[in-house]
Amino acid sequence: MKTIVILNSKGGVGKSNITRHLAVAAEQESPGMVVLCDTDPQSSLADWWNARTSETPPLAVIGVAEFADKQPVLASRFQYLFFDTAAADAKQYGDILKSADLIVIPVVPSPDDVRSLNRLTLPVVKESGRPFIFVLSKARLATQLLVSTMAALSEHGTVCQTIVQQREGYAKAAFAGSTLLEDEPSGKGAEEIRELWNFVKSRIDEKTISAKKLKGMLHV
Ligand SMILES: Nc1ncnc2c1ncn2[C@@H]1O[C@H](COP(=O)(O)OP(=O)(O)O)[C@@H](O)[C@H]1O
Ligand SMILES: [Mg+2]
Repeated sequence: MKTIVILNSKGGVGKSNITRHLAVAAEQESPGMVVLCDTDPQSSLADWWNARTSETPPLAVIGVAEFADKQPVLASRFQYLFFDTAAADAKQYGDILKSADLIVIPVVPSPDDVRSLNRLTLPVVKESGRPFIFVLSKARLATQLLVSTMAALSEHGTVCQTIVQQREGYAKAAFAGSTLLEDEPSGKGAEEIRELWNFVKSRIDEKTISAKKLKGMLHV
């Protein structure tokens, strides 16, 4: 099972929006193989899931401390786990981050958000030693702010070239426990999410391939 953790200590940056969209994109591609995970039963992810008509992907509410025990059960049933996190001290997710195949960090284009990222989120991510990517979230295209934020982030790590734009449809879909992939499957929002999911997958596969290569090398 591949574990994808969506993390940023700042609230309102689009973590839950990206988590549920990535999970539904993965579910549409691999039905029955995806599980969502959240530690907070009062979170916006749980609210969204409760409002859903579809029962997939399932949501597992698991406390941070329980994760290590529950993870093998989930791993025996699912291929992808998407872990949403709260706007809280990222340090509490330290152990979960260590088991991540990829950490996705949504960032809203703004100097304040980049500063808070450097102070609160990145040190914990770097300490985990796991691969991570930045994803621009709630962004407006063709703005100087977007260009300068992407440049600033690229000094710290990989910046996904697919941008999750500010779209009313994302917020609207949240009301009905839905996603743009389900509401407007041939729209631009659905397209950007499928592109993002392909990028996420490529980062995970890259790691698997290099791990296999390394294993091969060790056996020669
Ligand atoms: N790309 C987007 N375009 C428009 N609204 C968005 C977008 N991403 C998130 N939102 C809205 O912004 C608010 C905060 O998003 P959310 O995903 O809950 O952030 P977080 O989980 O980081 O706190 C929600 O009302 C959500 O519907
Ligand atoms: Mg959230």
